[in-house]
Amino acid sequence: MSSNPVPSTIPVMVPWLGEEEAEAAAEAVRSGWVAQGPRVAAFERAFAEHLGVEHAVAVSSCTTALHLALIGAGVGPGDEVVVPSLSFIATANAVTYVGAVPVFADVDPATGNLTADTVEPLLTARTRAVIAVDQGGVPVDLDGIRAAVEPRGVTVVEDAACAAGSVYRGRPAGAGAELAAYSFHPRKLLTTGEGGMVTCRDGEVAARLRRLREHGMSVSAADRHAAAGGASLLETYDEIGFNHRMTDIQAAVGLVQLGKLPAMVARRRELAARYRELLAGTGLRLVEDPAHGTTNYQSCWVLPPDGAPERAELLARLAGAGVSARRGIMAAHLEAPYKGTARVPLPATELLTRRSLILPLYHALTEEQQDRVVAALRAALG
Ligand SMILES: Cc1ncc(COP(=O)(O)O)c(C=O)c1O
Repeated sequence: MSSNPVPSTIPVMVPWLGEEEAEAAAEAVRSGWVAQGPRVAAFERAFAEHLGVEHAVAVSSCTTALHLALIGAGVGPGDEVVVPSLSFIATANAVTYVGAVPVFADVDPATGNLTADTVEPLLTARTRAVIAVDQGGVPVDLDGIRAAVEPRGVTVVEDAACAAGSVYRGRPAGAGAELAAYSFHPRKLLTTGEGGMVTCRDGEVAARLRRLREHGMSVSAADRHAAAGGASLLETYDEIGFNHRMTDIQAAVGLVQLGKLPAMVARRRELAARYRELLAGTGLRLVEDPAHGTTNYQSCWVLPPDGAPERAELLARLAGAGVSARRGIMAAHLEAPYKGTARVPLPATELLTRRSLILPLYHALTEEQQDRVVAALRAALG
């Protein structure tokens, strides 16, 4: 299968897309049905089967998946939701969308994830949910957090945006959560251009989320079209919904990508292991598997040693050597919409967001390119 070309500056991420995806998208176009339809339904079934869960609802992004997941968890105005500040801002924004308040907890500096210990002190009578993020693909210790919060009536929603292909205690990451949200943005392993999925345990909640993604319609447009005499099958709108739909063109690409996911994970883990070997002795700490699972290395982040040049300087030196690295994960509580709202100090979050950086890692990265990254990094460290 041919892959898309890789430019001479080594990028941080290149999706692994080929002729098969192009053909699948073209077939969807040729079929004449390009909005949410049979391919979306097939992608949902395949994704649910991959996870070993019953209900998967395809949506337009992980942001919209989180939005629906919070509604599914019953979160609304006046509620509090504990989230890591160390996450893409969409995690906190989804809480704001439903009128609730994001309460920022610190993370374990080894994994970049929430723990029961960082979440527990922030629980109040108003806490309705926790969003546990599998940051950069590293599976969060879901069971530990659930054990700490569920006795208090708090639901854990897993933000598995980065984690398709990661494993938690022998199961795909997200599979053990009441509700989980995935992203298919091109910075993730499995991509549909834009796209997302929300999974959930409860069949009634799943049915409601299916309606909510499509304006609250009681019968989807695709079902009306497919039904004999569909024109007389009238839908009702029983609550205010959204347009959070995925298209059949995206789903067609997603079905092909899902089949390639195991190969993508294997290659990324191989390349990450090679980075670890090649960077030995530099003092850089490279993110690794936690005790309870394996990461897909969606983000291959490193923490430079004390005394290393400032991160901006490192990134500039890498860029000068033709290597496009990136700053590490952002911290929402340092951005304008959430500035000054953190209720507790977040030292691990602030350390990781200030100092870590993400190295190039993608399926088609060659060993020669990886050697160039390592040489540039060693030179940048001085
Ligand atoms: C942890 C996390 N949550 C949510 C999102 C939002 O995903 P999307 O771009 O699919 O809306 C991202 C995107 O990077 C993410 O990393």
